[in-house]
Amino acid sequence: MVERLAERGFEVVQADSGEKAVELLDQFAFDIVITDLRMPGVDGMRVIESARERYPGIVAIVISGYGTLKDAVDATKRGASDFIAKPFQFDELLQKVQKALEERRLQAENAYLRSQLEERYQFGGIVGRSRPMQELMRLLETVARSSTTLLVTGETGTGKEVVARAIHHNSPRRAHRFVALNCSAIPETLLEAELFGHVRGAFTGAVGTRQGRFEQAHKGTLFLDEVGTMSVALQMKLLRALQEREFERVGDNQTIKVDVRVIAATNSDLARMVAEGAFREDLYYRLNVVQVELPPLRERRDDIPLLVQHFLKKFSPNETLEVSQSAMRALMAYHWPGNVRQLENAVERVVALSAGRTEISSADLPPEIQSTPQAAAPPYVEFPEDGLHLPHYLASIEKDLIRRALDRTGGNRNKAADLLRIKRTTLVEKLRRIGVD
Ligand SMILES: Nc1ncnc2c1ncn2[C@@H]1O[C@H](COP(=O)(O)OP(=O)(O)OP(=O)(O)O)[C@@H](O)[C@H]1O
Ligand SMILES: [Mg+2]
Repeated sequence: MVERLAERGFEVVQADSGEKAVELLDQFAFDIVITDLRMPGVDGMRVIESARERYPGIVAIVISGYGTLKDAVDATKRGASDFIAKPFQFDELLQKVQKALEERRLQAENAYLRSQLEERYQFGGIVGRSRPMQELMRLLETVARSSTTLLVTGETGTGKEVVARAIHHNSPRRAHRFVALNCSAIPETLLEAELFGHVRGAFTGAVGTRQGRFEQAHKGTLFLDEVGTMSVALQMKLLRALQEREFERVGDNQTIKVDVRVIAATNSDLARMVAEGAFREDLYYRLNVVQVELPPLRERRDDIPLLVQHFLKKFSPNETLEVSQSAMRALMAYHWPGNVRQLENAVERVVALSAGRTEISSADLPPEIQSTPQAAAPPYVEFPEDGLHLPHYLASIEKDLIRRALDRTGGNRNKAADLLRIKRTTLVEKLRRIGVD
């Protein structure tokens, strides 16, 4: 066994007794211990126990001539990772050794990701290490200190609310309230009263006098979600509140002054709504003093492993579930239309169904994620009524992909060519032809 493992490139140290093995364990940091079970003096169980005492992560493989189920169970209870009954084929042992090493490597990798999670790559609950997220966090740290109005944009589930909360909790306003209002969840007729409050009898059903969200958020932060859904009439009133920091409750003419930082969010294209006259231009500029654009998850796949660790910790804080290579590959290949929220839900589901297991394999993932082809699926294209110009259309896709490959690599053409699986010279040629700078 020693010779054959050495032939395969393993560094093997041999002990001819249990005592000797325990002694050696003090001298080297082993990855794996392979031992017989029944030996004179110090037996295999004791070897495993002292190995695990010294190195909790060590892999112990037991080989025994007494291939009883009871022995196997006992050995596993004392920390053996695997059990082989004599007689055995070398290949069987080799397979177990390789599998054990792979597991150890995964553990180390996962532990590394977990430590990264603790160290950097966090800003008030925002997790991310991709370049766009790192840049975003740096921007947020800066704007958190001021009271600037912010517009947070991004597809559903990209973390717009997380960003708003992170800013509040890192700002000098953190001792005051973070008040959130989803403008699309409240009927238009009641939205004004919700924002600015009302006095008794202001409208049917206004039985008492109530503070609006602006007043509640005094000295704190007001998060206006889905601002794009607000009527143009109400946009006017919001603009005044933002500009003058004053307003009246509905049904009242007494002016109220507040000190509120406003963070607005939307997943509609406000700039286009402005162009179409559905959103006031002056309000747009008022809200959009600083724009924070959250990229969809599929454009920052580097964040996926870290987010997976983050959510594993959230949903199973006491266990250390590992994610297999193939499962992680599937998670990274999927296009995540629901972005981080969908990833969070997927991890929650996997954890709930993982009862007792220590590793998540790709078979444990929701079916739609398992079955993502490894090469990105082509995007769905709306076919225009009157057709399209195929060469122009394909060229525009090519141009877009090339530009994004260059973005990803910080303009490095060699790396971009690698990402696109084309030769550098081909890339340079294409760049010249399509006029990408
Ligand atoms: N970068 C991130 N780090 C950690 N958790 C995140 C991150 N982004 C999003 N999440 C989590 O994903 C979920 C969705 O985030 P959030 O509610 O902020 O999305 P949203 O952009 O407001 O979506 P919607 O437009 O649908 O309201 C939340 O549970 C949030 O905790
Ligand atoms: Mg939201």
